[in-house]
Amino acid sequence: MEPAESYGPATFRPAVVSDAGRLADIHIRVLMVTYRGIDPQEWLDSLPQQLIERETRWRERLSQVPVDVVHVAEVAPAGLVGFAVGGPARPPNLGYEGELISLYLLPEHQRRGIGRELVRRVARSLMERGLRGMLVRVLTANPARLFYERLGGRPVGVQTVTIGDQPLEETVYAWRDLDLYFAP
Ligand SMILES: CC(C)(COP(=O)(O)OP(=O)(O)OC[C@H]1O[C@@H](n2cnc3c(N)ncnc32)[C@H](O)[C@@H]1OP(=O)(O)O)[C@@H](O)C(=O)NCCC(=O)NCCS
Repeated sequence: MEPAESYGPATFRPAVVSDAGRLADIHIRVLMVTYRGIDPQEWLDSLPQQLIERETRWRERLSQVPVDVVHVAEVAPAGLVGFAVGGPARPPNLGYEGELISLYLLPEHQRRGIGRELVRRVARSLMERGLRGMLVRVLTANPARLFYERLGGRPVGVQTVTIGDQPLEETVYAWRDLDLYFAP
């Protein structure tokens, strides 16, 4: 792992089909680090075997008429280092029409403002699609909760998600007026 100062500034763009392999790889790598001690270890250990299958799913998702928006962050010389996905909120949506569905950054590129910019880009894309408000579901045990609070997200509920047969609590954070928090 290179020290953070050896990387250039981040640039951002919508994802393209040829990003599929890198997106699957980043997703698995960050899941394995972030959810150690939170998600069932057996489930985490099974993730690398899903690489090809997940790459195929990314390729299909990015090839279709987009329902969701996918933004990626790149830095030189590493290339793609993180991504965020947004779309119409899945039920129960608690009255918020948009959802930040996922957000993953390689550990060595965290805490450099890249996550904040990816969320801003997703929020702007949701607004452009006419969706009002945005929520995000985050495992209550994940310290990323504090990141969403820093971005002005309000806790609006708790829900249960099942990961690898284990029920886990998620906190739902939300923004009602996206323009207020995520300026152009
Ligand atoms: C959560 C995540 C996307 C944040 O991205 P990031 O680029 O590291 O965050 P930023 O540098 O943009 O931080 C924005 C602000 O949040 C704060 N912040 C970020 N992560 C934080 C944390 N874990 N705890 C407390 N504050 C945090 C930063 O200090 C910064 O505060 P500032 O306004 O005072 O400058 C990134 O850490 C990540 O990918 N984590 C692993 C995957 C994950 O948990 N994803 C979320 C799943 S719901």
